[in-house]
Amino acid sequence: MLPRTLLCLLLGSLAGTAGASPDLARGKALHDENCIKCHAGMVGGDGTAIYTRPDRRIDSLEGLRKQVNRCKDSLGMPWPADQIDDVVHYLNHDFYHFGDQP
Ligand code: HEC
Repeated sequence: MLPRTLLCLLLGSLAGTAGASPDLARGKALHDENCIKCHAGMVGGDGTAIYTRPDRRIDSLEGLRKQVNRCKDSLGMPWPADQIDDVVHYLNHDFYHFGDQP
């Protein structure tokens, strides 16, 4: 599992040399690697139902960013800001659809 994460990070950083714009594919890879298991244990399936449940808690891009940070902290992962951006961007793009992108 660890080598795959490292590979993702390496590929991500190579692909990211052009600029600081968020990388959807890397966001999804980071999310799938680190975030699904815990949510799937709560809501079943692939865990993404937690983002689309009727009583979901997040109602803004800022709130989404805060929650990603909270969940990341509970994992104890030292993600740099650009990786958090990528995950926030991926979740917003695929599930939340708040107007402005991070
Ligand atoms: C240790 C378990 C755990 C892990 C790992 C985890 N989460 Fe969560 N996540 C939760 C719990 C619990 C909630 C629901 C909190 C609530 O309902 O009050 C949640 C909720 C969320 C929500 C809000 C869902 C909504 O209601 O709209 C987002 C977004 C989220 N997590 C993102 C992430 C991301 C990104 C990662 C990976 C970095 C991650 N989570 C990893 C436990 C976890």
